[in-house]
Amino acid sequence: MSGGGDGTALAGFLDFEPPTEDFREAVLQGLAERQKRIPAKFFYDDRGSRLFDRICEQPEYYPTRAELEILENERERLRALLPAEASVIEFGAGAAQKIRLLVEALVTPRCYVPIDISRQFLLHSAEGFARDHPELPTAAVCADFTLAVDLDPVVPEGPRVGFFPGSTIGNLTPDEAVGFLKSAARTLGEGGFLVVGVDLRKDPARLEAAYDDAAGVTAAFNLNLLRRINRELGGGFELDGFAHKALYDRDEGRIEMHLESLREQRVRIAGETFAFARGETIHTENSYKYELDGFQALAKRGGFRPALALTDAESLFSVHVLAVA
Ligand code: AVJ
Repeated sequence: MSGGGDGTALAGFLDFEPPTEDFREAVLQGLAERQKRIPAKFFYDDRGSRLFDRICEQPEYYPTRAELEILENERERLRALLPAEASVIEFGAGAAQKIRLLVEALVTPRCYVPIDISRQFLLHSAEGFARDHPELPTAAVCADFTLAVDLDPVVPEGPRVGFFPGSTIGNLTPDEAVGFLKSAARTLGEGGFLVVGVDLRKDPARLEAAYDDAAGVTAAFNLNLLRRINRELGGGFELDGFAHKALYDRDEGRIEMHLESLREQRVRIAGETFAFARGETIHTENSYKYELDGFQALAKRGGFRPALALTDAESLFSVHVLAVA
């Protein structure tokens, strides 16, 4: 471990200074396209992150509970399969309950290293983990985890176990997911494993309810993107002019979230004007769902050998253990 010395509980901090994501650029570009769109990663400002935490508590949003059930019930099988004395690398940061269950399943893990692009959020959650687990050295790496990352300066020799929970991989198209897996295989190296949470295909009504909860939290989460544009980019969105939509596309195997314009309107953002027809939408998120074997085929394309596929009692969600091929 290197770094530290900054008065935090961290044993190391590695900063690859990913370019600050240009929200303004992405919004102006995305709204100029024929199918207007804004990348889903921009949901997570402070308010958006808090709304996402509340989504996870909604009765319709089963993924969080189902994944926790799997991690809790399958400790023994995870322990038997995953290497002892592993360095645990989390792709993304902040799934505190989940990483705790994985770490508890492992035999004498050596360290925990989350990788995340959002420096502040990363340091906050890594420091929280370090305080709760004083026995486990915790470092942090600020980088774009969809690219291969050289962890050698902060991660000791020995096997690496990657963790990518929450079906966040579903935000990527299948081709992008293969690209991510190839990078992760390089980051984890020979003898490495990846534990990845993947939402399963199911009854469209169940899926659509999970992305349109009765309490309206997912709607607020989606509409928060417009609030963020108003606040950070001086946008002129009228929030009552748009409605949340979540639709399952069976052919693509994905939930699409959109914001639908309820009337013909013009909106000014950062000196530019965007026209919306009534019924026109902004596409804000894809959330891909997989069958077990479909995801295993994807994992093979990404340079992994499927080692174990676990599901909850209702077969709503899956956790795959993949070995670097
Ligand atoms: C965190 C991206 C996995 O796709 O289910 C939840 C985000 N969007 N409700 C998902 C989300 C709407 C979530 N991921």
